[in-house]
Amino acid sequence: MILVTGGTGLVGAHLLYKLANSEKQVRAIYRSKNTIERTKNIFSYYTKDYETLFKRIEWAQADLIDVPALSDVFIGITHVYHCAALVSFQPNMNQRLRKTNIEGTANIVNLCITNTVQKLCYVSSIATLGSTLGNTPVNETTDWNPENDNSLYAITKYGAEMEVWRGTQEGLNAVIVNPGIILGPGIWNNGTGKLFKKAAKGFTYYTSGTIALIGVIDVVAIMVNLMESEIKNERFILVAEHWTCKKFLQSLAKSVHSKPPKKEVNSSFLNIAWRLDWAKHKLTGKPRLLTKQIAKSLNTTTQYNSDKLKTALNYKFKAVNETILAIGNHYQKQV
Ligand SMILES: NC(=O)c1ccc[n+]([C@@H]2O[C@H](COP(=O)([O-])OP(=O)(O)OC[C@H]3O[C@@H](n4cnc5c(N)ncnc54)[C@H](OP(=O)(O)O)[C@@H]3O)[C@@H](O)[C@H]2O)c1
Repeated sequence: MILVTGGTGLVGAHLLYKLANSEKQVRAIYRSKNTIERTKNIFSYYTKDYETLFKRIEWAQADLIDVPALSDVFIGITHVYHCAALVSFQPNMNQRLRKTNIEGTANIVNLCITNTVQKLCYVSSIATLGSTLGNTPVNETTDWNPENDNSLYAITKYGAEMEVWRGTQEGLNAVIVNPGIILGPGIWNNGTGKLFKKAAKGFTYYTSGTIALIGVIDVVAIMVNLMESEIKNERFILVAEHWTCKKFLQSLAKSVHSKPPKKEVNSSFLNIAWRLDWAKHKLTGKPRLLTKQIAKSLNTTTQYNSDKLKTALNYKFKAVNETILAIGNHYQKQV
């Protein structure tokens, strides 16, 4: 039986749909019943007969940091897709990020080992990769650089990867995927889905950087391919295309028939903006909207090389433009 963590989130829910279709036995963990509805909503993106497919998933309540509950969930499990994580760039989330992402992944790895699970597929991020000199694209050998100004999220995703590699030293078979920004339909109030909501209201500004993009349908197809392959103890960058921020925001706006952003903001503006955002957070306690690291990333033009994955699986990514149009179309039908 297959276990999926994070099945109420973007990646996990699309993965559950794919697995449910393949008629495999699948168990998924959840924390609160109302989030399961999000998964059902994502199933409805694909088919009218979503209730039937949805019933194929066996749901079990467990938190990543609740070892007794997780231990029960692992009974009879042969393969694990670990998609759950806390995705947050709030500086005051340090403790929760560490517990969920590092300790939670350590728990999954330990239970995989004690239950002699055949293979683990872990969803990491390009945030765990280091940087290169000049315009050389980053690849799987570009190691993490602790000297960089890494976000807490990146630090904890890197810590989680270390737990997976530690597991492989203890005999676990594992693959890690490092996706860029993942685009997919169904969750509009957080993550990248929220960008479509924002696009519908209209963006004013764009920045000069580039972003590394991939559709969620590609991500889950690749995860299943890697799980079913002989490949083990390797990691793979998943980036379909690099777009300028301008092109990305214009395309989002077009997909929901809204006005595209017209004004570019430069790095000096962003440097002032993140400091003002910090001051507002200190004075009012409101969540940060723009941190120093996010401001920096909005102006960087890092390129990522996905050749290793393309060669290993002979895989061809879907065009990002089509992915965005399909998501925008679905957003307009739902909201
Ligand atoms: N989205 C992207 O652009 C992107 C890019 C690169 C990498 N990634 C990685 O891809 C993975 C999936 O991301 P996503 O976009 O699907 O995230 P998401 O939509 O925010 O979903 C996160 C999932 O993790 C679960 N979760 C969080 N804390 C948990 C805990 N303590 N115990 C059990 N479950 C917990 C959430 O459950 P609840 O519903 O109960 O909160 C939810 O199912 C993550 O590992 C993320 O780091 C995402």
